[in-house]
Amino acid sequence: MAASLIRLHFHDCFVQGCDASILLDEAATTTSERNAAPNRDSARGYEVIEAAKSEVEKICPGVVSCADVLAVAARDASFAVGGPSWTVKLGRKDSTTANRALAESDLPGFQSSLEVLISQFANKGLSARDMVALSGSHTIGQARCLTFSNRIYSNGSNIDAGFASTRKRTCPASGNGNLAPLDLVTPNSFDSNYFKNLIQKEGSS
Ligand code: HEM
Repeated sequence: MAASLIRLHFHDCFVQGCDASILLDEAATTTSERNAAPNRDSARGYEVIEAAKSEVEKICPGVVSCADVLAVAARDASFAVGGPSWTVKLGRKDSTTANRALAESDLPGFQSSLEVLISQFANKGLSARDMVALSGSHTIGQARCLTFSNRIYSNGSNIDAGFASTRKRTCPASGNGNLAPLDLVTPNSFDSNYFKNLIQKEGSS
């Protein structure tokens, strides 16, 4: 769950800022970001934020925004699995609207080129170096087979053959929703193995 909360915060912040817009359901005036391609059947952990928010509401009604709950949850999730901690300034306002089209255009996709990814991060004031560092979050969490099946069946020189055949056991060439850990060495702890795996050509995504 730690991974899902970190990603949820990231996917919230990249669309209209960190305003909890990702949590909003489809409504007359809102196109839900939950249904955008990078989130649909992929983003997880909404129910954890909703449960935390309702506990906070019992003690302190109408004060703490969902955006702050999500920002704090992501920070605490990172720390809980051995990752970094940081100070979270509070006082975010929740958006009353969401934007599916913006989520589709601004969130990184698994088929995007390096140039597109770099420009998506640049649009948020983040450098390529920032992007690489933030991608280190893939040291925890899981990816659906359909997001990496092309790569493991490519017989390319940039993937370890043994690693590819391990992955193929649960991931057919046509791709499906089976989940596999992004970091096969230490899937549940926040460390630098994601980068080490990439250098050893054992990265799924
Ligand atoms: C550089 C561009 C990025 C791309 C192309 C990308 C792509 C992906 C993909 C394809 C998945 C698997 C999704 C699925 O199975 O449907 C994923 C999962 C994940 N991503 Fe990223 N990502 C990027 C950046 C980031 C950043 C900046 C963070 C956090 C700061 C992040 C955190 C995560 C986490 C934690 C997961 C696992 C989620 C879970 O297990 O629920 N990603 N990412």
